[in-house]
Order: sequence, then C-alpha cells, then structure tokens
Amino acid sequence: MCGIFAYLNYNVKRDRRFILDILFNGLRRLEYRGYDSSGISIDYSSSDPNSQLSFSAPPLVFRQEGNIDSLVKSVYKDVALMKLNLEEPFCIHGGIAHTRWATHGEPSPKNSHPQTSGAKNEFLVVHNGVITNYEVLKETLMRHGFNFESDTDTEVIPKLAKYVFDKATEGDQSVTFSQVVLEVMRHLEGAYALIFKSHHYPNELIACKRGSPLLLGVKELSEDMRSGALFLDLNFISGNGHPKELFLSSDASAIVEHTKKVLVIEDGEVVHLKGGGVSILKFENDKGKCGNALSRPSSVQRALSFLEMEVEQINKGKYEHYMQKEIHEQPESLTTTMRGRLKHGGSTKAKTVLLGGLKDHIKTIRRSRRILFIGCGTSYNAALAARPIIEELSGVPVTMEIASDLVDRQGPIYREDTAVFVSQSGETADTLLALEYALENGALCVGITNTVGSAIARNTHCGIHINAGCEIGVASTKAYTSQIVVMAMLALAIGDDAISSQARREAIIDGLFDLPNKVREVLNLDQEMKDLAKLLIAEQSLLVFGRGYNFATALEGALKVKEVSLMHSEGMLAGEMKHGPLALVDENLPIIVIATRDTCFSKQQSVIQQLHARKGRLIVVCSKGDAAAVCPGGSSSCRMIEVPQVEDCLQPVVNIIPLQLLAYHLTVLRGYNVDQPRNLAKSVTTQ
Ligand code: F6R
Repeated sequence: MCGIFAYLNYNVKRDRRFILDILFNGLRRLEYRGYDSSGISIDYSSSDPNSQLSFSAPPLVFRQEGNIDSLVKSVYKDVALMKLNLEEPFCIHGGIAHTRWATHGEPSPKNSHPQTSGAKNEFLVVHNGVITNYEVLKETLMRHGFNFESDTDTEVIPKLAKYVFDKATEGDQSVTFSQVVLEVMRHLEGAYALIFKSHHYPNELIACKRGSPLLLGVKELSEDMRSGALFLDLNFISGNGHPKELFLSSDASAIVEHTKKVLVIEDGEVVHLKGGGVSILKFENDKGKCGNALSRPSSVQRALSFLEMEVEQINKGKYEHYMQKEIHEQPESLTTTMRGRLKHGGSTKAKTVLLGGLKDHIKTIRRSRRILFIGCGTSYNAALAARPIIEELSGVPVTMEIASDLVDRQGPIYREDTAVFVSQSGETADTLLALEYALENGALCVGITNTVGSAIARNTHCGIHINAGCEIGVASTKAYTSQIVVMAMLALAIGDDAISSQARREAIIDGLFDLPNKVREVLNLDQEMKDLAKLLIAEQSLLVFGRGYNFATALEGALKVKEVSLMHSEGMLAGEMKHGPLALVDENLPIIVIATRDTCFSKQQSVIQQLHARKGRLIVVCSKGDAAAVCPGGSSSCRMIEVPQVEDCLQPVVNIIPLQLLAYHLTVLRGYNVDQPRNLAKSVTTQ
C-alpha cells in the first residue's frame, strides 16, 4: 500500500532539475496510496550509454519522513550542500521513487525506500506490497555476512540481489540485470511490485510484480515512432536510437499526463528497460510460490493499451480538496456509470438494463443457490445498500461477507454460489484473498471494481466496471454511489421479468435515469451541512441510526465522519437501538436518524419518538416536505435535513450525500487533512 514510480529518459537531454521534478510529481500523484515517508534515487553523474563500465560514483539516495513536500525540501537542501549542478544534462537516466504507508517499521528515513544492498548502493529497490518470507531470507543473508539497517521486509530484496550478483560474477562471469532479478524473484513470497536500479547496470531499470499493480508508460518523442511500436518485442528492445521516455508507476494517475500508451504489467513478469527498449520475461504458470514452483521464464510480446483516463480527472480543478471534488462530481460519475447500460425501451418494448461484462453469466447467477457479496469498508457498505433490491428482484438469498472475516472463518462456499467481489481499487488484499478462496471452492466469481486491469477485474470470471473515474481522496465517495447504482442494475439484470414485477422494474429504471438530477439537487445542501459541521465541531462522538435500505447509509455516514474528521462515530441498525445503544442517549450526544420515505418509515418515526422522549439531540434526514410530520414536537425540536425522495432502492445514493458533506466540512473545520486521513491509505494491499 505504497506508491512506486520511475522515470527513464533515453536519447533525450534532461537536466537534473527536470528529472527531480518528474519524480516528485509522480510521487505527488501517488501520495494518496501512502504518505508517511518517501524517497528517491537518481544518478550522481551522467554516463556514456555506450560504455560497458559502471559509473564511478554510486547512485544517490534521498529518504525522508513525512509527506512529499518534506522530501522535496530535504532533497534540494542536500543537493545544494553537495554542490550538485541542477542544470547538469543527462542523455539517458533512470530514477526511481517511492511513497510509503508503513507496514514493517515506523515511518523514518531508514525505513523509507529505496532500500539498498549496502553503503555502496549497488542495488536499490522500491516496493509496494509485503514480502511474507522476509524473516527467513533475512536470517540466511545475515549468515552470509549482510548487515540490516531497517525494520522493513523490503530490505532483503536489494541484499538478495547483491548476493545473487556476487555469486554469479565470481570468477569473472557476467550476469544480466534481468537474470539477477529473476533469481531474486524465485525466492520471494508475498505480494509485490518492485522497481530495481543498480550501480552495476547504469541506465537500466527493472520492474517486476506479483499481486500488486504496476504499469509501464511509453512516450515516443520522434515522429516516425508514433505510428509503430504497438507491440513490445525483442526488436523494440534492440534500441533503435529513437528518443523516448519510459515511466513505471503503481497506477495510471502518475502516467496519464505524460502518455496514454501503457502496458499493464502482469503477475510473474519482469520488465527490463535498457538501451531505449523494453523486454518482458515471464514465469509461465506463475503460482506466486518460491523456488521450483516457478517454471523457466520466457520472453513475451504484448500490445500496449491506451488509457481512457483524462488528465482533468486527476486534478482538483476548482475545488480545494479531492474529496470535495469527488463529492460534487457525483452527478457526472453516476451518469458515466449508467452510460450505455440503460435502455429506454420505446413505446412497445420494455425498459431494460444491459451489462455487457455479465452477458454470458446472467442465467447462472439467476440460478445460483445463493449470492454472496464480499468486500471491505465502503465497498461492503455499498453492497449492503443493494442487498434488499437484489433479494427482492432475483429471489436469490443474499449473504453479506466482510472479506477478512470470510477468510478467517473459512466460511462455506459452494459451486452453486455466485460470489460478488466489490472493490473500488480492485487491489484490496483481504478481498483478493477471499476471491482466491471462492475460486478454490468453485463459485462463480463476479468483480465490481473501478479499476480496469486490477487484480479483481482480471481474476474474476466476469464483472462490471463502475466507471466512476479516478478516485483520489482516500475516503471513498463517488465510488460508493456508483457501486450502489451498478448493483441496482445487477438486480434488474438478474431479476425475473414477470409481468407482476414490470412496473417496479420500470420505476427503478426511470429513477436511475433521473438520479443524477436528484443528486445535483441534494448537493445544494452544502452550506447547510457546513453550518451543521460548525455546530458539531467540538463533539467527541456521533451516532447514526438507519434501517432497511438505509442501514448501509448509517454505517457509511459514520465511517466517513470517523475516518476523515477523526471524530468517533458509529452507524447502527435502528431496530437494535432499544437493545443497548439507547443507554447512550442524553441531551448532549448528537444523533443522526435517517427517516426518508420507504417501507421502514413508520418504524423510524417511532425510533425518533423514543429518542425524543429521552431528550435525544436529533438530526433527522427526511424526505422533502416531511419535516413537520417526522419530528414529534415539530421541526424546532430536531434539526431537519430534507432530501429529494427517489425510488426506495436508490434512496441510499441520495441520503449519503449530506453525510459525505458533513464529514468533509467537519474535517476541514477541525483542521485535518481531508484527502490524507491519519494512518490510512487508499488501497489496502496488506492483510
Ligand atoms: C473508506 C474506504 C475504505 C475502502 C476499503 C476497501 O472511505 O475507502 O473503507 O472502501 O478499504 O477498498 P476497496 O474498495 O478498494 O476494496
């Protein structure tokens, strides 16, 4: 759950300042993946690319605790102290960079990446993931005389590379950089994406991965290369001298402003950047195990793909924060999620839903014995919001599973089950492990993700992309609403089309068409939610009660508040209130109750009465025009938030928005970093 990035310029002059800026910019794009420390490595001096000699001075390494701004400051300070010339040009140069979310060892310069093979920086590695067998490797390497300086799992990798290199070059033998890395990879267990740089292989970089995401971006700088080179092959490696820039990154957000031509690196692949070319070696039948389980690597040819993402998606535009931007762009993200998937029907035909990614599997899902929804955090909450409509329209029983809990329990899954994996990033380790488990048990596995080419998208049998656009704020907002909409469409797609349910289906489809407008309307509550945030700014705690479709809204609203504003908040099932939580109620504790119109409305009214009778400090989310009816003593005794009414199963999409706005404003008013909440990172690639 870190971000890794590299930049290699070939046959095009770039000065040291330019190279540093590209690396820092790459890290800023990836900062949401981890932001407790960071580091880079660049060359000390330029070298002649035709020379076989190593550089006289090893690469430089800069590492710093804190965010990217602290790294930038400390690098420029060190560069000045070292009297390095920022204008020094490099015709060819490979730099690597890392932004960290600590797993092994506290945030500190020594635990930041690049991790090194020793004082001479012979091998340098940036890593995203976790090496599960690092203790065994560390012990072995220590027996061979290696000293370890950090508390990280990563440090074994450059040291192992040095060990392999030293062994292979005993007696004047030579070994290529990719041979070294392939040998290192044989010994690693766990999930990783790695970029290697080495003093012994100037102007070369190597990337490899298993489990964690990694992309290569290719930007050709000469006219005649633009039309060709759609395939990366061994001819392309041989280095035809055309100037180019190559980028490696944990995700597309750090590449898209440079090029849209990318290669999604696959598990088991080793990608070697050398002499202006790229070669790919792959372990066939990669099982993610060490030692002999891996077959011999062979070279691979693969087409580049084109990123669909636009640069504007990764900029804040007119907003101050990504979370704010992503909340406000929900009318557009929802429109994109539905685009091409809803059919109006016309005068004679019924309105329908088309989900291309599921077209060969709809019947199997419909006939499943059970549908399991599996996810973590916000993605789990989205599935919970969609559960009632899936059950209602399909008649198939639905069970909800938090991914880590399913794996901990080894809960039963059968061949007749459909397991739906919901994940914005498509990379969450807990969800991936649950997917592995469901695949082993023979279930049909469906992925619902926001990330094309992610591990969940690739490893499920079929799926639906939510197409919400890049979500950079660590707290998920627009992905949540798009996930609910995708699952409502899934319910329509797998539901039976009996005449009796036709009116209901059509009402939902009409509701979907109109949903972006309703969301636009509810976003007008921004100022009202800011005012409420001002009232709540000093509170210690907040409760949120919901039920039915809006139990999920209560959980998700409370999650948003706690993760960004650092105020304790709990989402609760309103039906459970009198079984314990009622004891907490007094005139001080703020309580939000979701009481919009649906079949649970009258039950929520009595919850409000019971809270009111105990002098509860109530904030009620109700349907427009309902304020007086909902609150016992009239709206003066409660603070009312009126939202537009939509079809019941779509109401969670509308209802969460005031709570997202509340979380956002509370955080800003309390002075916390809303896009980078304490201790969190966007995609959780560790268990
Ligand atoms: C909260 C949040 C997390 C994620 C969870 C799963 O705002 O974003 O709870 O929802 O870590 O992540 P994905 O959806 O990427 O699997």
